[in-house]
Amino acid sequence: MDELVALCKRRGFIYQSNDIYGGLQGVYDFGPLGVELKNNIKQAWWDSMVYENDDIEGLDSSILTNPLVLKYSGHEDTFTDPMVDCKSCGLRFREDQVPDKCKKEDLTEPRQFNLMFKTNVGPLEDDDSFAYLRPETAQQIFTNFKNVVDSTSRALPFGIAQIGKAFRNEITPRNFIFRVREFEQMELEYFVKPGMDEVCHDLWVQKRLKWWDEQGVPMESIELYDVPNVELAHYSKKTIDIMYKFPHGIEELEGIANRTDFDLGSHSKKQEDLNIKSKVAKNKDSNSKLAVQEDDGKWVVPFVIEPSAGVERGFLAILNEAYNQEELDDNKSRIVLKLKSRLAPVKAAVIPLKKNNEAIVGLAKNVKNELQKLGLGRIIFENTGNIGKSYRKHDEIGTPVCITIDFESLENKSVTVRDRDSMIQSRVDIKSLSDFVTDKIRS
Ligand code: GAP
Repeated sequence: MDELVALCKRRGFIYQSNDIYGGLQGVYDFGPLGVELKNNIKQAWWDSMVYENDDIEGLDSSILTNPLVLKYSGHEDTFTDPMVDCKSCGLRFREDQVPDKCKKEDLTEPRQFNLMFKTNVGPLEDDDSFAYLRPETAQQIFTNFKNVVDSTSRALPFGIAQIGKAFRNEITPRNFIFRVREFEQMELEYFVKPGMDEVCHDLWVQKRLKWWDEQGVPMESIELYDVPNVELAHYSKKTIDIMYKFPHGIEELEGIANRTDFDLGSHSKKQEDLNIKSKVAKNKDSNSKLAVQEDDGKWVVPFVIEPSAGVERGFLAILNEAYNQEELDDNKSRIVLKLKSRLAPVKAAVIPLKKNNEAIVGLAKNVKNELQKLGLGRIIFENTGNIGKSYRKHDEIGTPVCITIDFESLENKSVTVRDRDSMIQSRVDIKSLSDFVTDKIRS
């Protein structure tokens, strides 16, 4: 973990947030490379959900949330962690995360602490003006269920996908970006007929494992955890957690829950007409029936299968898998990030051999501009004048290909391309460079 943290800071992936004022615990900023990698992970998820399936719609809902949403979702009552104080060191911990140095006899009895952040909406700070920052993106998918059905004419089964920020006032944020107070989730709520939920749940577990593998997180680094009943969230009938071997230990990367008809049932008006299977509180405030009508006229509240992944945890797992320290023939070593090319923050670096040679620099800029137009992601013009140093930097940040423009390039319009993983260098004609780079990034 220390090596990853150092790399992230050194190369501009992740910084401690608010650092110049002493930081703010449990929040991080993503730097120039971090934002690229994060965007690429989110895009890969969005492609695989919204673009590659014909039955999934996208959504981008608000972070500020009406307290009624989180009252009926059950979060006001149950979204808590047990907290204890250590009378010896004066610090506060989540009950299951007390460090060894604190003795059992020094700990207070656990009390429940609600993890939701509150804020005020509008100029008055009173009990009527408060709102929550959403603790999961899912709830606004449920509250928009009817909007999406009405505007897209969807019939079951179908899903709504969303990527966005979530906020939790974690008692003990820890392990770099693994457990933070502000993070992003990639969540799908997939609505099915009651009775189809169990098969569909199994299917989504398999689909999600395949997706992680495609992002460079293989099955060998993963364990599945069938969450026991006592640990299930209040809405869940069954949850399978995808557990990843993080540098600090095996922990949850993504949860895939069968949320039954709890959420739509809880947020619905006229619940008595809907044959809701789960136990929900009486809703006196909703103005919408979150159900679909069957051909025989009966109302059905769909069951929901929810794959929910944290972007930060995905980022950490992908980075950890890609990180390699390699010994080279000449008694040297290199750090190389063997990221999938699609995910690499920089897709190619164009490097002039001589930083002050006008003709070489001019050609390098032209090559960079042409490659940038391909829409593959960020292409960098790297004018350090030191090829060896540039290669080391781009190995470390995972750039799949470096392109060197030299004197020969001026004569015969060809360039040297260097492959990140094999370090093999070859000559490619400039006219075929676009195809070459496209193949490399898309493969
Ligand atoms: N909508 C379901 C839900 O929110 P969750 O298991 O509480 O379920 C889903 O969260 C995912 O969000 C987790 O698998 C994890 O990847 C991520 N996550 C949760 N809390 C987090 C935190 N404090 N910091 C970073 N990621 C977090």
